[in-house]
Amino acid sequence: MNGMVTRISGATVCVDLADLKIGDRVFVGISRLTGEVVRLEGRIATVQVFEDNRGLGIGEPVTTAQGPLTVRLGPGLLGGVFDGLQRPLHKLQEDGGDFISSGQDPFPLDCSRSWDFSTECTVGAALKTGAPFGKVREGHIDHLLLSTRDGTLAQMNTGKLQLENPAAHFEDGQPLLGWHSWPVRKARPVRRKLPPVTPLVTGQRCLDFLFPMLKGGVSIVPGGFGTGKTVLEQTIAKFADVDVVVYVGCGERGNEMAGLLDEFSELQDPRSDRPLMERTIIVANTSNMPVAARESSIFTAVTMAEYYRDMGLNVLFLADSLSRWAEALREISAALEEMPGEDGYPTYLGSRLSGFIERAGVVETLSGASGSLSMILAVSPPGADFAEPVTQACLRVAGALYMLDTQLAHRRHFPAINWTHSYSLYSDTAMAHFTEQHGEWARLQSRCRDILQREEALREVAEVVGMEGLQDADRLMMRTAEKIRLDFLCQNSFTDDAYATPKNTLEQIKTLIAEHEQINTGLKEGALLDDLLMEDANASG
Ligand SMILES: Nc1ncnc2c1ncn2[C@@H]1O[C@H](COP(=O)(O)OP(=O)(O)OP(=O)(O)O)[C@@H](O)[C@H]1O
Ligand SMILES: [Mg+2]
Repeated sequence: MNGMVTRISGATVCVDLADLKIGDRVFVGISRLTGEVVRLEGRIATVQVFEDNRGLGIGEPVTTAQGPLTVRLGPGLLGGVFDGLQRPLHKLQEDGGDFISSGQDPFPLDCSRSWDFSTECTVGAALKTGAPFGKVREGHIDHLLLSTRDGTLAQMNTGKLQLENPAAHFEDGQPLLGWHSWPVRKARPVRRKLPPVTPLVTGQRCLDFLFPMLKGGVSIVPGGFGTGKTVLEQTIAKFADVDVVVYVGCGERGNEMAGLLDEFSELQDPRSDRPLMERTIIVANTSNMPVAARESSIFTAVTMAEYYRDMGLNVLFLADSLSRWAEALREISAALEEMPGEDGYPTYLGSRLSGFIERAGVVETLSGASGSLSMILAVSPPGADFAEPVTQACLRVAGALYMLDTQLAHRRHFPAINWTHSYSLYSDTAMAHFTEQHGEWARLQSRCRDILQREEALREVAEVVGMEGLQDADRLMMRTAEKIRLDFLCQNSFTDDAYATPKNTLEQIKTLIAEHEQINTGLKEGALLDDLLMEDANASG
């Protein structure tokens, strides 16, 4: 059925087309720009256009896709680089050159590629929705193909599988393909959610040791301009101990995204020794791409993340940054003349955000496997004001806060994670796990926190009386705290030190604290700090 454009106001377009539903995807104008229905009044629908709509005119035709905005899910997503509408960027470049032209809709999966398909299902087997009916090898993982409906298999293919050909047929003659579509705004179903219990090792000493993350957990990384959000997110994307990483560059600089792509295509995954890109999906919606698609980009990405989680894998979702996403939401809401809430953000900012963040978690999948989707989300509060609505809305649902500190960043202490204001609600669970594996974790962590806290208090005293005015025990405390900060908490992402295993992390802090305690014992026995330090320096060499 055809309709037509009746009004255009920026990226918001009114169309006259019957039988639309909220959330339906429509193709607007002669160039068939993708849009989503966001408001309905009689036959007139307000459509948010996701692409650059310059040149669109009144009276141009509109057609409906008769369903919501979807992503296509199947083998071949890993290693892919997509825009916010899941259009593969390399195909867009092949077809239209370096600059994305509007109205293109290439298929995101490679239909010409042959996959080695193997299955244990036989003809006559009864399949349930979400049950695996076979697998293909994709990079380092076994990519399970999951049934999209209940039914009895009447015919089964094995060997080479191309995505355009059915892998099997049901008794009613319906084909079972190796890919399927899923609406981006609908969370994929699971049997039940489980509490997160396993640590997610990021390789960042400060995080793993002081503020550990769990697989299936959510943490947010708010930080002012230049505090290291992007570098931290990208470093975690490289080293986190997960099976799949989905990285969304949301409204950030295009050159950073290009840098990430170059780097990732050269680097090896430290665990599997395979190219890092093989476990990574990138969704790029940089600052120079249309704003509305930025709003959908995190949903596109999280749906792909859920798809891999449903295979029983551990998936990490990274977004840089949610503030740019919220700004896109604000821009769209303003164009719709909705009542603004705090700071001009729509009143539904909090519920939209929590709806999205709730898609994280450990789950029992429909086939009974256990998979996890973890999220580490950067937030860039304007003026580093953490009281602003986006940071606050994220905080309500996140389990860990990694607060980046402008002053630490100015001192070039990276990662600039403020150890006083950051927290992790997952700490106890992760610590129990680490203590079981490596011993002593809990004692060392609380000792380390003590020393850092004592330093804060002592620094104020030292400002008044000078370092020389402090007692030897306090001077030692200051010295150890400085060592912890500079040698342990600082971790340069551009050197070999960028990644630390939990074992190394523990050994390093253990050595620092043991040295502190040894000198402290000497002090208690009446020796002088300077003598003890001299002895220590001579002993080490
Ligand atoms: N872990 C790190 N190791 C070494 N250098 C770092 C680290 N983190 C940040 N930096 C330095 O800080 C600079 C700014 O970092 P980054 O671009 O990640 O900040 P940002 O918070 O993303 O900034 P913006 O708000 O502009 O997006 C980097 O170019 C790098 O020089
Ligand atoms: Mg950045």
